[in-house]
Amino acid sequence: MKLMLIGFGVVGQGLVEILHDKKETLEAQHGFSPQVVGVATGSRGFLYNAKGLSLSTLLDVGRGSLADYPDEEGLERDFSDASDLIQGRGADVLVEISPTNIDTAMPATKHFQMAIATKKHIVTANKGPVAVGFSQLMQQAKDAGVHIRYEATLMAGTPAINIGTEALAGSGIKAVRGIVNGTTNYILTQMEAGLAYEDALKKAQELGYAETDPTADVEGLDAAAKVLIMMGAFFGKDASLKELDVTGITGISAADIAEAKEAGERYKLIAEATVTGGRVMPMRLPLSDPLAQVSSATNALTFSTELMGDVTVIGAGAGQKETGFALLSDLLALHRTITTR
Ligand code: HSE
Repeated sequence: MKLMLIGFGVVGQGLVEILHDKKETLEAQHGFSPQVVGVATGSRGFLYNAKGLSLSTLLDVGRGSLADYPDEEGLERDFSDASDLIQGRGADVLVEISPTNIDTAMPATKHFQMAIATKKHIVTANKGPVAVGFSQLMQQAKDAGVHIRYEATLMAGTPAINIGTEALAGSGIKAVRGIVNGTTNYILTQMEAGLAYEDALKKAQELGYAETDPTADVEGLDAAAKVLIMMGAFFGKDASLKELDVTGITGISAADIAEAKEAGERYKLIAEATVTGGRVMPMRLPLSDPLAQVSSATNALTFSTELMGDVTVIGAGAGQKETGFALLSDLLALHRTITTR
């Protein structure tokens, strides 16, 4: 399986590190031996080699310029932009991991369309195109016979999309509610431990939890994008950000958190999706509520269903290896689909 990476930030490096470190196991246990053939970044250059790029050299380059990747036989670097690479060169799968834009979903949607037109499957951690206009992209992919997988857009590698769309398919999901943003949960946890808001946010950025522009996290927009993703994935409903009630955590002060603590309660940013709509809002929960016990960058999601009652999944919601793993899990799912069909 030849992979083309669009974006090579925290998540892309997480994926490459996993592919590098788990090479033998992936091959022996799953018959999976992928090659990274292309990498495109917004400002650090491009690489393509149909024979496969060196994963260890990519990791050495890291956040640096791709110009530091040494010349090798078959290597090309002269591309005008990501579109040029996607349209002009071959790969089996486009791994779209460029920074999320929740308003316009661009340029990722354009990348998706080009991948579909050139018959590349898509695996993504980019919330933009999955939250905005996704049903149309899915239809285009279906018509072209390519798959789109997006486990990494919700709760990193903790199964969430798979649970709702596959494991619980047919159970009659009525509502999905929980904590779906790691950055804000981390900040709220750290503030309760006495850290200032700015310091907690800075730490969340250093740990790779926050979006490129963390405003999306703290204003509740990242959680709102996930509500749209859930509405589409679990209820087949296309909605837009404007239709949701969204409040983030910027209005919560250290004094509010201390007051809640004194009363035996805890602030959590709660996201909710149903067939009729969705919302994101900070709530003061009693410590007896299981969601109040979910701390740091951990996420939790409860599926309320007709046949199974409540089913809750708790696990990592952000992070380099956690999101890198989500992409790997989709790549393996794709590998199983392609090799068995
Ligand atoms: N910024 C996101 C979060 C990353 O903090 O949850 C995972 O989608």
